[in-house]
Amino acid sequence: MKTRKRYTITAALPYTNGPIHIGHLAGVYVPADIYARYKRLTGNDVAFICGSDEHGVPITIKAKKEGVTPQEIVDRYHKIIKESFEDFGISFDNYSRTSAKIHHETASEFFKTLYDKNEFVEEVSEQLYDEEANQFLADRFVVGTCPKCGNEESYGDQCEKCGTSHNATDLINPKSAITGNVPTLKETKHWFLPLNKHEAFLNDWILKGHKKDWKPNVYGQVKSWIDDGLRPRAVTRDLDWGIPVPVPGGEGKVLYVWFDAPIGYISSTKEWADREGKDWEPYWKDKDTKLVHFIGKDNIVFHCIIFPAMLKAEGSYILPDNVPANEFLNLEGNKLSTSKNWAVWLPDYLQDFPNQQDVLRYALTANAPETKDNDFTWKDFQARNNNELVAIFGNFINRVVVLTNKYYNGIVPTPSEFSTVDEETLAAVKAYPAVIESSLERYRFREASQELMNLARLGNKYLADEEPWKLIKTDEARTKTIMYIALQIASALATLSEPFLPFTSTKLKNILNVSSSDSTQKKSIENKWEDISTKNVLLPANHQIGKGELLFSKIEDKTIQEQLDKLEASKKANEAANKVVEPQKDTITFDDFTKLDIRVGTIIEAEKMPKAKKLLVLKVDTGIDVRTIVSGIAESFTAEEVVGKKVTVLVNLAPRALRGVESQGMILMTETAEGKLVFVNPDDATVSNGLHIS
Ligand code: MF3
Ligand code: ZN
Repeated sequence: MKTRKRYTITAALPYTNGPIHIGHLAGVYVPADIYARYKRLTGNDVAFICGSDEHGVPITIKAKKEGVTPQEIVDRYHKIIKESFEDFGISFDNYSRTSAKIHHETASEFFKTLYDKNEFVEEVSEQLYDEEANQFLADRFVVGTCPKCGNEESYGDQCEKCGTSHNATDLINPKSAITGNVPTLKETKHWFLPLNKHEAFLNDWILKGHKKDWKPNVYGQVKSWIDDGLRPRAVTRDLDWGIPVPVPGGEGKVLYVWFDAPIGYISSTKEWADREGKDWEPYWKDKDTKLVHFIGKDNIVFHCIIFPAMLKAEGSYILPDNVPANEFLNLEGNKLSTSKNWAVWLPDYLQDFPNQQDVLRYALTANAPETKDNDFTWKDFQARNNNELVAIFGNFINRVVVLTNKYYNGIVPTPSEFSTVDEETLAAVKAYPAVIESSLERYRFREASQELMNLARLGNKYLADEEPWKLIKTDEARTKTIMYIALQIASALATLSEPFLPFTSTKLKNILNVSSSDSTQKKSIENKWEDISTKNVLLPANHQIGKGELLFSKIEDKTIQEQLDKLEASKKANEAANKVVEPQKDTITFDDFTKLDIRVGTIIEAEKMPKAKKLLVLKVDTGIDVRTIVSGIAESFTAEEVVGKKVTVLVNLAPRALRGVESQGMILMTETAEGKLVFVNPDDATVSNGLHIS
């Protein structure tokens, strides 16, 4: 038996500003759960910790939008998210929340310790301020161009495109997310964590230390960060939602959400330990404990640089052993997006696929975005279910259970002598725990899930080769041996599937009439993980098994099409809801209108304005003259296709220069109901919803 080790396994605390979708599940919670279950099954002492991340600007923004308090928002989503995790079998030992009293106390105390140890730099600096909204613009309250990659929609604290975490004042062309205004600068005092001071330690720990075994995506991101040079980071904010800064001069300020949230792992551990009558400290302070953080790639710098620097500065904590961050999951070729409603939400999935949590867990694991971004498609989901879960795993179990019931009334038959194939098959089964462990130890969950499926394949092949349904007519003794072996394989599957397919594993154990780790009533037989490789007999002769029950069922094309339609419809509905209809402008008089000199003209030449995405430079014959007009239609029309077009021209508009070219008039355009830009065409009466000229 392996030595028992202590593991603190954390999964990123989800923001409580919306439900959980498949991207979260695939990237963080399913792999974390597989790992935690596997570690428990192999006899370790595990604390699997999570909770809701309830501070931070996105929550305030959502509350503002809905006209409710931030507390109402977090209460609503904390409940929904917690339920989703339970529904999908994510086996947290504790799921807390950062608005909990124990968390406020723990985070405050942590801050005070660093303050007392002089680990902060206190500094008055100029920060972005929105005069109209009367508030400082931190984090997601400000958007602008990322100084590193040029993404024009970077947030104040982090660019979601390149993952860089920066200071709001580093943004190029910052804009307030509240009013759209260009911010001003205003002086304010904050506490900074001098990351530069920890650079040497981080460099040794991550780059020179043993962290080369971290995933290349994680190691690479951290290395590039350190190579760029670390700078002090403000860990306080001028906001009113969060944990109050607990030191003199901190009035009206709160801790930066990324300072308090990771401490949530610690407070959640404390909450659990209090409830279980345990001591929390070894889980965070004993150097023999293995601390593993499961996160998505946008969280890498916080877990590999900032939080370790905080823990190191505090002084009494251990540091993570590994941070197996995943890349992102896309959905049907597009980025998952809460705001665009391009997602599969867990509560919705469960409604449409009741009791089919394992199918989603499996599809997401088999196709997990481990080394690169990956795409979830409903077609792949269907194929994973129909071709693997149903056709391989389910089919094998079904044949074994049905035949055992049919031939032997469900009693495990007594085998006679084993053939070479039998011996080899049993030996192959015994090797599976080590094979799966080797993948899991390297955080290769896709590979591990395929190894599990290979065990079911092995069972299927064994039955197909040995054909007990034929032999039953000629050789009863041999048939018994074959069925006995097949039942051993089924039993191994029941145990080894538990981390991946916990619901199926429980069902299968019930069918086989053996104990499952989560059932209260113990049966006479219990096969633990290590038993699969050490025991010679998993299901002894004469053991009574139960009746069959289908583990998986086929998913039809129609069901998949419904999901695709639903996705498309929700995207459309969302676009429609977000479409801003411009209000009608002020009334003009008839005299105003008659001032417009509108004529029919013909475009005789057109070319693209260099270095301008939207502009075409046109030569237009107006009937009075040929003149130059610069028109902003290059994103809808090419220069070639507009030459020769008859157009409606406003000829007496005061000339103005666009990129150094004088434009002498305006081509009238309008938008169709579908939002397509079209000419107000003098030949064409089918003109749309905007402008009508008679
Ligand atoms: N709420 C963050 C997110 O969803 C993750 C926080 S992880 C923690 O990206 F370490 F801060 F807890
Ligand atoms: Zn960037």
